[in-house]
Amino acid sequence: MPGYPKVNYIGNKEKLASWIIGEFPVKSGTVLDLFGGGCSVAYALKESGYSVVVNDILYADYVLGKALIENQDATLPEAVFSYRPDPARVKELTERFSFLSERLYYPEETEELARLAALADALPEGERYLFLALLRRAMIRKLPYSRMNVPWDQIRILRDEEYSYRKYGRRRAYHNQSFESHMRENLEAYNAAVFAGRPCRACRMDAFSMAEAAGPVDAVYLDPPYPSTMNQYDDFYGLFDEMFGLRRGHADFTKRETFLANLEELVRLLRQKAGYLVLSQNTRVKPGPDQIAAMLEAYGSVSIREKKHNYQVTGKENKNGSRELLFLVRFR
Ligand SMILES: C[S@@+](CC[C@H](N)C(=O)[O-])C[C@H]1O[C@@H](n2cnc3c(N)ncnc32)[C@H](O)[C@@H]1O
Repeated sequence: MPGYPKVNYIGNKEKLASWIIGEFPVKSGTVLDLFGGGCSVAYALKESGYSVVVNDILYADYVLGKALIENQDATLPEAVFSYRPDPARVKELTERFSFLSERLYYPEETEELARLAALADALPEGERYLFLALLRRAMIRKLPYSRMNVPWDQIRILRDEEYSYRKYGRRRAYHNQSFESHMRENLEAYNAAVFAGRPCRACRMDAFSMAEAAGPVDAVYLDPPYPSTMNQYDDFYGLFDEMFGLRRGHADFTKRETFLANLEELVRLLRQKAGYLVLSQNTRVKPGPDQIAAMLEAYGSVSIREKKHNYQVTGKENKNGSRELLFLVRFR
């Protein structure tokens, strides 16, 4: 099976997914992945034969969930790039996306984005989400550090290929390729990643609302933003949501002062829905693993698995070695 394509998602668990799934306390059934992000774990769960409900607050992630998890058979034809979008719609979107000009991209690139988004409008659902997933990845690939919160002054400098070559010995020409060329390069891999598994669903809700709304599942997987690490997902990807007028507020799991209380509130809701909880964390988080374990022990029996892992942050190997933790909770 060709597998999970290039998604470029900060903090994704692609390299840890098979270890996580190997440790899963249930070997079949339905898993709710509440903070699905780039869908690497959701994808591996689907590959392993689970039914997956993948949720994330961001539309940028929801399109991945729809394209790669919920989607069982739709693929995107290459001919899509020669379709002619409605000119009035392109004009409307060019105006709507103007806030991205000289914030993330050059004005002519924003116009290309509008043309592509107008193309997406006319596609049937399955194809549309694949198209948007490819567009999201193209947008990220064109940005230095693969995120949307780098100031324009820096983006301009870092996209200067001569400067990049002098300073870093690499031209990074991919920042200056068109969106369409990035999408074309990845089209085959995204199409090949689509496969029919057990029925799966993608949702876009705040974790608390999703925990309340969810039906019974066999296990819940939690990979919230780790407190005290690089965790500003709205800043990394939220401008994609803003392009479509779909940016949403949500409960904040990024602050060390409130993390534990929020997590406990979530655990209280989830124990009514599932037999097991699986929580990813690492040894550098604050509040620390002992505090997290102590809180979880009030709700069930807890065991902890550990694995060496270095997070890849924007291309550089993170030198502060940390160990990845998996808390397995069997609810009482
Ligand atoms: C560490 S990432 C998940 C990475 C994912 N496991 C993967 O492999 O790609 C955490 C995710 O939590 C999402 N998130 C943060 N707060 C949320 C909330 N209140 N409700 C739902 N999702 C939230 C972020 O948008 C982010 O995608």
